[in-house]
Amino acid sequence: MAKISVSRLAKMKQEQEKITCITAYDASFAAIFDQADIQVLLVGDSLGMVLQGHDSTLPVTVEHIAYHTAAVASTTEKSLIIADLPFMSYSTPEQTYNNAATLMRSGANMVKLEGGTWLSESVKGLIERGIPVCGHLGLTPQSVNVFGGYKVQGRADEQADKLIEDALALEKAGIQLLVIECVPVALAERVTKALNIPVIGIGAGAETDGQILVMHDAFGISAGFCPKFSKNFLVETGDIRRAVELYKEQVENKIFPGSEHSFY
Ligand code: KIV
Repeated sequence: MAKISVSRLAKMKQEQEKITCITAYDASFAAIFDQADIQVLLVGDSLGMVLQGHDSTLPVTVEHIAYHTAAVASTTEKSLIIADLPFMSYSTPEQTYNNAATLMRSGANMVKLEGGTWLSESVKGLIERGIPVCGHLGLTPQSVNVFGGYKVQGRADEQADKLIEDALALEKAGIQLLVIECVPVALAERVTKALNIPVIGIGAGAETDGQILVMHDAFGISAGFCPKFSKNFLVETGDIRRAVELYKEQVENKIFPGSEHSFY
């Protein structure tokens, strides 16, 4: 099987085939996910919490993400690799291009950044320079201090309309994938229908084009708190490879996420 491309992901949306994504930070897990035909691996700045033990993603640097991206890329043949641009690494277009180039040189196939309309110029510039971009809206963990905690976003009508406006602006600027995190199911469905590009949810219900989980949450091994929207697939299977298969099967068949993992 060839490397998953952004056009393959777009086709999956058109054909209503669910896309399965998971975070990966090292060579061994990346190989397991790749062999299980997980379409997208995200080298997320969540590594600041699940690997480094911080209480937020803010201490993560471009060098950290580049190091883990290279490890993931070393064993990944088919899955598309997205690398997160960490906190304050994309404040200006120039800074964004330089840091995105570092991540692409480390083995990423796409970069992800958190935020809405204000990123349009940087997104357009990245695409023009040959770097595919994934957006991230809703609960954007790098803004935890602005939100005052890890809270569900987009519950108020005004907030929900703003999220749709941001999603459309990012799509117009050129993003080819969007992650939405911790939003009510109805809003996630609105965004998914409003956009032509695939929308991947985490804590956003089953109506998005695909799902992503932090791998430590999917295996129930996170040291701290495990979010309500996640599920421990290892406890049911007792085997890592089987847990990954079960996650993929349940995403494809819209069994996961269930109503108990969703916000209304
Ligand atoms: O950093 C990360 O792992 C993420 C996911 C939660 C989507 O951004």
